[in-house]
Amino acid sequence: MAAKWYKLPLYNFRRERCYCGAKKGRFDGPMIEFQSVSKVYPNGTVGLKDIQLTIYPGEFVVIVGLSGAGKSTLLRSINRLHEITHGEILIDGKSITAARGKPLRMLRRDIGMIFQNFNLVKRSTVLRNVLSGRVAYHSTLRTLLGLFPREDVELALKALERVNIRDKAFVRADQLSGGQQQRVSIARALAQGAKIILADEPVASLDPLTTKQVMDDLKRINQESGITTMVNLHFVDLAREYATRIIGLRAGQLVFDGPVEAATDEAFAEIYGRPIDKDELLGRNGA
Ligand SMILES: Nc1ncnc2c1ncn2[C@@H]1O[C@H](COP(=O)(O)OP(=O)(O)OP(=O)(O)O)[C@@H](O)[C@H]1O
Ligand SMILES: [Mg+2]
Repeated sequence: MAAKWYKLPLYNFRRERCYCGAKKGRFDGPMIEFQSVSKVYPNGTVGLKDIQLTIYPGEFVVIVGLSGAGKSTLLRSINRLHEITHGEILIDGKSITAARGKPLRMLRRDIGMIFQNFNLVKRSTVLRNVLSGRVAYHSTLRTLLGLFPREDVELALKALERVNIRDKAFVRADQLSGGQQQRVSIARALAQGAKIILADEPVASLDPLTTKQVMDDLKRINQESGITTMVNLHFVDLAREYATRIIGLRAGQLVFDGPVEAATDEAFAEIYGRPIDKDELLGRNGA
């Protein structure tokens, strides 16, 4: 299917403002750039097909598409959890595809990752989990010994405060509710000093109320700190509520890219190849 492009005038130039309304300033150019990116898995499955995509600082992008459309592959290729097989990905103007060794570690340090299953060390305290966001700033030996400078501890506690769970700092991670655990992983990305947050179905294991709280946290942090945020979501209404820009994937191809206002029911039907199902609406499904 041919890509559906919404040629807002601002798309065709170097934009002065991103969709979120944040002013360009600190950064000169795009935060994430996909240049003709394709990914073919070793078994021949096409994960991504010739993706051309530019994400600007401070955008809150939601990626939608049917199961198997390539959403996780797209997100995970950004920090090279998955290696792409063709093309190049640039982070803040630098090629992560070509980077090796220290430059790669430095680029990865700028990218926080949030997963559906939280990816916490369950038997460690919340604070220690958040501090793990600091490891890339220190020598391996120091972090193996669990030694973090006091500033890091303060930074970690501040990050916990921002997601309203400062009081859980010394509790074991597995004693927290799912929503609280997801907040710990957001705090870890904050402590990491990430410029980019990639969240792969961050609310898929949460109930509707907790879902809203976690999405609100992500959005607030995006707005307060200008952290470029890309989230994979299953729910159409959530995508519309939180995104400034929606990207639609179908069979590894970019089939929709536009501001949230353009993501009508018809647009979603095109992305999905069928009308929206009621299971894809959190409001009706979950309330
Ligand atoms: N490790 C792998 N080896 C081979 N094929 C894979 C692998 N991981 C994913 N795929 C395939 O790549 C395609 C895209 O998968 P991906 O996980 O990116 O989809 P998705 O949009 O995230 O789906 P979901 O909504 O179910 O999470 C699918 O056809 C999938 O089966
Ligand atoms: Mg996925």
